[in-house]
Amino acid sequence: MGLRRRKTKYRYPPGPKGIPIFGNIFQLPSLYPGAKLIEWGKQYGDLKWVVVNSSEVARELLERRGRLYIGRPEFAVTQDILSRGNRIVLMGHTERWRALRKIMHSLLMASKSNTYKPFQDVESRALVWQCLRRPDEFYRHGARFANSVIFSVVFGRRTSMNDEKVQLLFSTIDDFLGSQTSPSTTFVEQFPWLVRAMPRSLQWFRPEADRIYKKTIGVYTTLFDDLERRIKEGEDPDCFARGMADVASKYGFDKAQAYFAAGTILEAGSDTTRNQINLMLAAAAKYPAWVATAQSQLDKVCGDASRLPSFDDWDRLPYIVAAIKESLRWRPNLLPFGVPRTLIEDDKYRGYVFEKGTIFVYNNIGISHNEEEFPSNDVFSPERFLNEDLQDALKGHLGFGTGRRVCPGWHVGTQNMFASLPLSGRNFLIAFSRLLYCFDFREVPGHTIDECEIHPLAHDHAPFKIQIIPRSEKHVRLMERECAPAVEELDQM
Ligand code: HEM
Repeated sequence: MGLRRRKTKYRYPPGPKGIPIFGNIFQLPSLYPGAKLIEWGKQYGDLKWVVVNSSEVARELLERRGRLYIGRPEFAVTQDILSRGNRIVLMGHTERWRALRKIMHSLLMASKSNTYKPFQDVESRALVWQCLRRPDEFYRHGARFANSVIFSVVFGRRTSMNDEKVQLLFSTIDDFLGSQTSPSTTFVEQFPWLVRAMPRSLQWFRPEADRIYKKTIGVYTTLFDDLERRIKEGEDPDCFARGMADVASKYGFDKAQAYFAAGTILEAGSDTTRNQINLMLAAAAKYPAWVATAQSQLDKVCGDASRLPSFDDWDRLPYIVAAIKESLRWRPNLLPFGVPRTLIEDDKYRGYVFEKGTIFVYNNIGISHNEEEFPSNDVFSPERFLNEDLQDALKGHLGFGTGRRVCPGWHVGTQNMFASLPLSGRNFLIAFSRLLYCFDFREVPGHTIDECEIHPLAHDHAPFKIQIIPRSEKHVRLMERECAPAVEELDQM
């Protein structure tokens, strides 16, 4: 990060002094670097080399001037070797990236939401039922929900966590994320020129990156072959992978590119959704006041355990919408810095002159915990978002990023939290509203939840302890009626 040469023509904001060659890379804690960046922000102002440290600057540079802040830095290992250039999230501002964004947009847009709704509906019922039966394994149920919904979006069928192919698929996500955060890779990624100059035989990181590429493409091939077989046998799934395969040749994409586009959706949509559910549960246990308000709104709409909330209730549940947005502000999901952007032309701002190619990241947690903008910033309070921008899922937080590289899955993502928004929105809408309607949440005495210690990549153990308690016997009966059948099908898979 601190390697940029400062030519006289360019003027950068002041920043912390780094050490030769390595700049500031060893000065930042790896999990939540926000606090350190806030400290630097106080010392040097709200622009760093170049860490965007206020929502005003994020809006101006990344959003209003989004046309310029649209590139990605080179990822010489994780993109060039491990993904053979095919991962959209790491692609620069190229024709190929533009075409992929266009296709993703059309395959994931709101009009597709009716295709995905049945999956979000049945999976959220299963989530509720599993939380009733095995509350201590809440983190597994959230993971299963997230994986199965996103798998259905991509391949048009539900999955069980016992399916070997699916396990292998999700292990490739761990391989990718693991290599992105491994010290040996992150170190080399700082010096793409070194990778290019180094003889292959000396590139100690290459064999592992090659191995992961071969495994990943092998897994994707099996899943696409399986989809093709199902279609030949008469199934007619309306899913992302089929749509992508249909248009790939029109855009000149080879099979690997089409496969990676689908794979990216799976990896971008599973851990993020799983983690967001964990954050919501942590917030519910720590700050019960907002849960009581949410429940009173849900009760007005759905009665006293008469029926589960559904996608059609969206307009009558503004508090749940606000809670989704607050969950995106309260703690950043997997990406405390977003994904780095590069500037594609020289730009001037507040007397500074930035050179084309400068890397920009935004300090998501620092920005969303700015006390002036978000008073009592640590408190989870959906009330902050009960304003005229409520229904604009991207306004008021940076959880899905911003500008022209904004997360294309927010549409899908938000709906699972309740069951009716765009893909992400809908995920959150359906899952959050149903969980909040059916259960109360408490911290376990002696085990205060520290949300800063919730590791976003840990799936093999509970990230915190929590009590998940049915609200009443009537709610238990409702879950038996409406949720149990959603799990029976899974048990038979
Ligand atoms: C809680 C759920 C999610 C969160 C918090 C989230 C967050 C993000 C963030 C912060 C970025 C980087 C944006 C930037 O550069 O400014 C991103 C990129 C991306 N997300 Fe999501 N995401 C979520 C769910 C999803 C889902 C469900 C999908 C797919 C259906 C998805 C697909 C992508 C893709 C493809 C990119 C790369 C875009 C590009 O580089 O042009 N995400 N996401």
